[in-house]
Amino acid sequence: MLVAPSVLSADFGNLARDVKRICDAGCDLVHVDVMDGHFVPNLTIGPVVVSAIAAAATKPLDIHLMVQNNTFFVELFAPLQPEFISFHIEEEKHPHRLIQNIRSLGIRPAIVLNPQTLPETLEYLLEDLDMVLVMSVNPGFGGQHFIPNTVAKIKRLKQLRDAINPDCLIEIDGGVNNSNIAMLRDAGVDVCVAGSYVFNHADLKQAIDSLHI
Ligand code: DX5
Ligand code: ZN
Repeated sequence: MLVAPSVLSADFGNLARDVKRICDAGCDLVHVDVMDGHFVPNLTIGPVVVSAIAAAATKPLDIHLMVQNNTFFVELFAPLQPEFISFHIEEEKHPHRLIQNIRSLGIRPAIVLNPQTLPETLEYLLEDLDMVLVMSVNPGFGGQHFIPNTVAKIKRLKQLRDAINPDCLIEIDGGVNNSNIAMLRDAGVDVCVAGSYVFNHADLKQAIDSLHI
């Protein structure tokens, strides 16, 4: 299991310090939540702050876009060369084109599914994707409760993924902690995002280790 702590739950007054801490504590990716106040009812950070995160990070960035104008934001973040950029399928009319654009910028493309979005939506896109991010909460905020039916959805997605593109990773985001991680791994999750669980833990390394299963 790869572990991608979400900096949404970091102390923004000490952002560089917290980014360094999770990297030193052994995370695999630094998950960055970009919200535009339109696609989701919250507003977070743009390229100025994300470039400060990139400068502090010793692990690759995993940028999760929760925005209306995906193409605009992809162009904005591409110069930071994150490992992944993921965009929501619910907000994209031309996902196939955007996948190609992201890859042509030297970034690995990923698509995000909201809680109600069927895995089958990706049947004709999976072969071109490096990762699918399954939301296990409604996007917009950290610290929410895990939606239980996400587990069945992961299992369906895994079947599709294994049949179409076994190299495509399955990532989960929302309400992940040490008590549901084993169940998520067994269902097929390869990468977990965890915000409040990691940052509310007294010992970041212990928190990250407990998800590395
Ligand atoms: C929610 C974000 C998540 C969030 C997860 O829209 O995409 O990355 O930070 O936070 P926790 O782990 O607290 O649910
Ligand atoms: Zn996220």
